[in-house]
Amino acid sequence: MKVTIDGQSIEVEPGTTILQAARMIGGELVPPAMCYYSKLKGSGGKCRCCLVEVSKGSDADPRPMPKLVASCVTGCMDGMEVNSKSSERVEEARKSVTEFLLINHPLDCPVCDQAGECDLQNLSFEHGKSKTRFIEEKRTFEPEDIGPYIQLHMNRCILCQRCVQVADQLTDNRVHGVMDRGDHANISTCISKAIDNEFSGNMIDVCPVGALTDKTFRFKSRVWFNKPYNAHRDCDKCCGKTTVWMFGNEIQRVTGRKDEYHEVEEFICNTCRFDKKDVNDWVIEGPRKFEKDSVINQNNYTRKIEKVVIETEEHILEGREQDRKKISMPDFPLDSNPKRV
Ligand code: SF4
Ligand code: FES
Repeated sequence: MKVTIDGQSIEVEPGTTILQAARMIGGELVPPAMCYYSKLKGSGGKCRCCLVEVSKGSDADPRPMPKLVASCVTGCMDGMEVNSKSSERVEEARKSVTEFLLINHPLDCPVCDQAGECDLQNLSFEHGKSKTRFIEEKRTFEPEDIGPYIQLHMNRCILCQRCVQVADQLTDNRVHGVMDRGDHANISTCISKAIDNEFSGNMIDVCPVGALTDKTFRFKSRVWFNKPYNAHRDCDKCCGKTTVWMFGNEIQRVTGRKDEYHEVEEFICNTCRFDKKDVNDWVIEGPRKFEKDSVINQNNYTRKIEKVVIETEEHILEGREQDRKKISMPDFPLDSNPKRV
């Protein structure tokens, strides 16, 4: 089937979703995804970040779809035409979804271990606003100990349910899930059971925000101070292929290898992730290539850096002007245009 996204056409197999087709084309037109995970069956359809506009349904029925659709759960049709990045409606919708996700998500990036590799941080950077319209108190939860290796920060959770799917599909003994409904919905173990199966660490890798973090790495370093290397070892439980995050000669963290969509290439076991922190445990293959849109990428840009435009609120600089008048500082030109370059 032929599908065209933002003017770029590609041939895909029947059953391919719009998001998968967009990823095959690649580049800026790929919709963001907070809940879809290509390695997890049944993922997607929860966060609405990946909304796109279908301007032509198919060759057989060219009518446009009246509403925006979630690209991760909408299949391609032959002759379909889709607008992603090129649509103002889509851009507006992504801004709104970002605003919704941030209603309850705390702005604790400065103390969150996920900062620098957080999908919500990247989404906010791309589509977020500098201020919130939400004046009510944020939803908060009591901290819960869910096991020896994983720290749950429920306040940060966006209920994408990837961690539940990992536990369902990788282990035969899931002890956590989404409890309660509506505004009370939360990730919990319900009967205060510890999550201690051998593949539980993968929940940390799939969590798009800092709701599940590695207790063995907590507050050790900011991720951008670590140097990631691809490494492998003989492991009888998993592929043994990982990324080790080093500070000097010390391995501070071990994770799965992630692709440009922040998805692990292969899931790894807890022994590799939590117990093998000695350099001698690993065969280091070489530095890990950085994905494009990450803070970890700083000083490693592979493309030309564009001019950054900082938009300030109107009148925000007036206070400074008045101050200067008060203490009769020499005048220098103050740009009255709120757009500063
Ligand atoms: S804890 Fe993380 S992976 Fe699990 S539902 Fe919440 S945001 Fe998703
Ligand atoms: S990625 Fe499509 S709805 Fe979440």
